[in-house]
Amino acid sequence: MFGARVKEPSFVAHVVGNDVESCEIDNVFDNGCGFQAARNRYEGGGFRLTRCGEGGLSGGMKPDAPPTDAGSLMTRLDSYIDRVDLDALFGRKAPLEVEVGTGDGGFLLTRAGQHPERNFIGIERLLGRMRKLDRKGRRAGFTHLRLLRLEAGYVLKYLLPAASVVVLHIYFPDPWPKKRQRKNRLIQVPFGSVVADVLEPGGCVFVRTDDLDYFEQMCEVFDGLATLRRVETPLELAELKTEFERDFERRGIQGLKAGWRKDP
Ligand SMILES: C[S@@+](CC[C@H](N)C(=O)[O-])C[C@H]1O[C@@H](n2cnc3c(N)ncnc32)[C@H](O)[C@@H]1O
Repeated sequence: MFGARVKEPSFVAHVVGNDVESCEIDNVFDNGCGFQAARNRYEGGGFRLTRCGEGGLSGGMKPDAPPTDAGSLMTRLDSYIDRVDLDALFGRKAPLEVEVGTGDGGFLLTRAGQHPERNFIGIERLLGRMRKLDRKGRRAGFTHLRLLRLEAGYVLKYLLPAASVVVLHIYFPDPWPKKRQRKNRLIQVPFGSVVADVLEPGGCVFVRTDDLDYFEQMCEVFDGLATLRRVETPLELAELKTEFERDFERRGIQGLKAGWRKDP
């Protein structure tokens, strides 16, 4: 089953498939639960997502990450190919808010506390930050919050159902300020379409950043989408600060913010 090993700068992953002759990894990510997944392309077509078993990893990966314990909000999905069944994931039907790049999760915890009638998903790639958020969320007794330690673009594009998100929060995403690093920014033209697809009609995406150049790029991306219109960030939301935002404000740096609503 595990037929080939493909290498990215610091990762090696097995891939599933027969006669895999040339592979390219789009995403490699770690769900923090001891296994990883990679979406690959290879000549000849076919699906290219696989889970890696023990021993299929090296470099920056941590194959010995502890398994998710029973009460953890850090969620191990049944499939990293199929779209998530949100009703099953939460055990109820409710509007879904998603935060991309939660950091330590102060914003998400407060927001989830304010809206017990909604479901929340936090996506963050750093294990330490996710664990902190998990501990605090459990302590708060949240049953309407799930945490995914995955690459955010992948989750929005491949795992969440289309038109399933009522509010998408993207606050202080890594700005990659140097010109040669800008290709690493999360919010680029292809990501814009992913956001437009995942928002439900009438749903909103809100962004904040301290980086003017990135802010202009965000505005260009979302303004360029036919189905999105600018909206003000509601006061209730604007007053809820993230950790990075508070830190910038302490240093006298004012964040930039914007929002877009998908046509109903
Ligand atoms: C600059 S921090 C901002 C954290 C938080 N939003 C805040 O404002 O305090 C960006 C966070 O996004 C996470 N992150 C960056 N790119 C990501 C990606 N593609 N998928 C998931 N998390 C990502 C980083 O690990 C980091 O915790």
